[in-house]
Formats: sequence, C-alpha cells, structure tokens
Amino acid sequence: MSLETEAKQQVSFDSVIRERRSVRHYDPSVSISEQELKDMIKEATLAPSSNNIQPWRFLIIQDPEQKQRLLPIAFNQQQVVEAAAVIAVLGDKEGYKQLGKICRLAVEAGYMTEEFASQYTERTVKTYGSLPEERLERILLIDGGLVSMQFMLVAKARGYDTVPMGGYDAQKLIAEFRIPSRYVPIMLIAVGKAASPGRPTSRLPVEDITFWNTF
Ligand SMILES: Cc1cc2nc3c(=O)[nH]c(=O)nc-3n(C[C@H](O)[C@H](O)[C@H](O)COP(=O)(O)O)c2cc1C
Repeated sequence: MSLETEAKQQVSFDSVIRERRSVRHYDPSVSISEQELKDMIKEATLAPSSNNIQPWRFLIIQDPEQKQRLLPIAFNQQQVVEAAAVIAVLGDKEGYKQLGKICRLAVEAGYMTEEFASQYTERTVKTYGSLPEERLERILLIDGGLVSMQFMLVAKARGYDTVPMGGYDAQKLIAEFRIPSRYVPIMLIAVGKAASPGRPTSRLPVEDITFWNTF
C-alpha cells in the first residue's frame, strides 16, 4: 500500500462528511500541484452519472493572473484569489458523443461485450441527440452537482477545504474565459487550505424534510 493511500485511509468517512465546511478564507501561500489536482478530479469522477456519460468538464484556474480575472466575475469573493485553485465545473452538451470511447474502455476492461457496447452506444447516442435542450441541461446540472460534491469530499479527505460557489456571473465567465457554447457552467469550487475555519451551519430536522411512501 502506498503512503498516500495509507494517509487517506486514516481519515474516516464520518469525519470527512461532518467536518467539511464551506471555507471562505484561505492561506494564499498554499498551492496544490497539478498532479494532485488531477488525482482529486480522477477520484471525484468516480461519481455516478446519467448513463455513465460523465458529461462533466473542469476548467482549473490556478494561475494568479487568471484568478484575478475571475475575481470580479465572482462578485469579488476573496476566496477566488486566496484559494490554491478555483475549479469551474462545466457540463458538456456534447458529452454523450464520448459514449463510444467510454464503452470501448469498458470492453477492454472486460466489463461488457463488444456487441452490447455497440448496441448500447448507438441507442443511447441517438436518444441523447434528440433530447430537448432543457432536458439535456437538467441532466448536466444533476451530474455536475454529483461530481462537485464528490470533489469537495475528496478534497476534505486529503486535508483541503472547499467552497462551492453559485455567486458568479455565468455570462461573464463564458465571455472572459472563452468557454465554447457547448459547455454549461454549473458551479465554481474554490479549493485550498483554510486560513480560518468555516463557520458551523445548522440543518433542518429530518422530520421536516422527509415524506414516507406518499404525500
Ligand atoms: C450551489 C451552491 C452555491 C453556493 N454559492 C456560494 C457562493 O457564491 N459563495 C459562498 O460563499 N458560498 C456559497 N455556497 C455555500 C453555502 O453557503 C454553504 O454550502 C451553506 O451555507 C452550508 O454551509 P456548509 O457548506 O459549510 O455546510 C454555495 C453552496 C451551493 C451548494
């Protein structure tokens, strides 16, 4: 077992979900290597997605100049420049076109037969290709939300902190960072080391938010 795996296993799932907080003040001297960011993305993408299409894409902004450009777009939320990186989580409207590759990898790994892969790909690509735009975008938002949450938990398990951000001007983000029209911005996630802890937040009692079997 590698040292890294051992270190990760010392963090319990319980502490990860209980101690994750939205952190808004970061130590600006802490950077995260490109390799570690890639590892974190790789772990985050173990999240489920609709038809395993994995339509999430990530614009990783860690260059100080680019973070400064992002600052006004994110309404001057200081975490954008203090955190080691900001991940713009995007949904790819053409992501379903990668299903052939996804299935090919599954065939190579012995998870499905070639025959199944080609039939499944053909059928699913056809279905996605004829979905109304709003239906497709809804799927992107759901899948993007799942991968975002997983990324935040992965970061916490590795000793980093995060804050998800919906407070930004999506149109300006698209224009400034020249995001092609096939990508839909889902959220920004700042990631780094906390300079001060996130404030504790309360949750509604389970009784207030659950309905059993029928309304
Ligand atoms: C979709 C989404 C958008 C959010 N946008 C912002 C934001 O723009 N700025 C911010 O400081 N926090 C933002 N938050 C963080 C929430 O305020 C925070 O998750 C909530 O208060 C619960 O606190 P906790 O994350 O520490 O448990 C956002 C959270 C979500 C899920």
